[in-house]
Amino acid sequence: MTTTASTAPQTALDRPDWDYVEFYVGNAKQAAHFYRTAFGFEQIAYAGPETGMRDRASYVLEQNRLRFVITSSLQPDHEITHHVALHGDGVRDIALCVADAGAAFSLAVERGARPVREPRTQNDAFGSATLASVATYGDTIHTFVERDEYRGPFLPGFVEQRVAAGSQEYPALHHIDHCVGNVGWHEMDVWADYYARVFHFTQLVSFDDKDISTEYTALKSKVMSDARHAVKFPINEPAQGLRKSQIEEYLDFYHGAGVQHLALHTSDIVSTIRALRANGVEFLEAPDAYYDQLEGRVGKIDEAIDVLRELRILVDRDDRGYMLQLFTKPLQDRPTLFFEIIQRKGSLSFGKGNFKALFVAIEQEQAKRGTL
Ligand code: FE2
Repeated sequence: MTTTASTAPQTALDRPDWDYVEFYVGNAKQAAHFYRTAFGFEQIAYAGPETGMRDRASYVLEQNRLRFVITSSLQPDHEITHHVALHGDGVRDIALCVADAGAAFSLAVERGARPVREPRTQNDAFGSATLASVATYGDTIHTFVERDEYRGPFLPGFVEQRVAAGSQEYPALHHIDHCVGNVGWHEMDVWADYYARVFHFTQLVSFDDKDISTEYTALKSKVMSDARHAVKFPINEPAQGLRKSQIEEYLDFYHGAGVQHLALHTSDIVSTIRALRANGVEFLEAPDAYYDQLEGRVGKIDEAIDVLRELRILVDRDDRGYMLQLFTKPLQDRPTLFFEIIQRKGSLSFGKGNFKALFVAIEQEQAKRGTL
């Protein structure tokens, strides 16, 4: 992996990091229970009517460096209610931690991002934090979070409310590896350019429909990354296949562009997948033939092929090393958002070599839904 020579940040947007991901859902109380029970998150904070937040309820979940905020509206005519009616449950906000939220916001807007929320500083007994938001694809936003010296459980307005992980087995998920957006036909370059222009991200990888296609489905993808490879945003658009692309199916059900998947990193994918399966998480199952061909395709790896076959874990290799991954089924009734579980062993790959095997599995699911 290459590292950049510079040490000090040059601008307010040079060293972003993940802060939290906020989901807008129909029933935050139940969704928070699902992520605690199935995925092993601990609830650490809450905001709602009891804490002075009249219009919504938000549950803050944590696991190592992962932080999710699960939010529902309490009113019929409300931005969150409209978001959920149109998109179903999904990701509203990919929040990024920055040193100076006001400066990050001004710079992003100056570089062409659409402003959503002007910088606002809030205080409570634990200190102060400043938040500001800009729009990205679809109805998705990026909030810049400046935590400064804030010492509370999450942010001002939230109270500490701890509920232990409800899962039988602890999956040890660690941090976000990448967050993928699906955008409309011919819009991949528009949004890749947005991350280049506004965030000065560079393109790490690109795939076209010759790389990622099966008999039926096809997509194009560009992976945009910050200089440290800490924050990575792959952008997918559908490509013409014989039948409906899985990206098109997403766009139909989500009614527009949005977050397709969050890749959650683990340092021991075998234990993680065992735990998640024990907790009832459903995954896409690669066909058995995939494992017959695996050793020939990726060469020698530390993990036993039989264990990978049993757990249906996928493997891909590039010139730097290899990576293991597995994709959940959609996390809600609409075939929209899902998670990827990923472990990297040197590789910077996104699993190009797995796409074909995976797409065959996805198409089996699409066929069951009658949307192929
Ligand atoms: Fe991915």
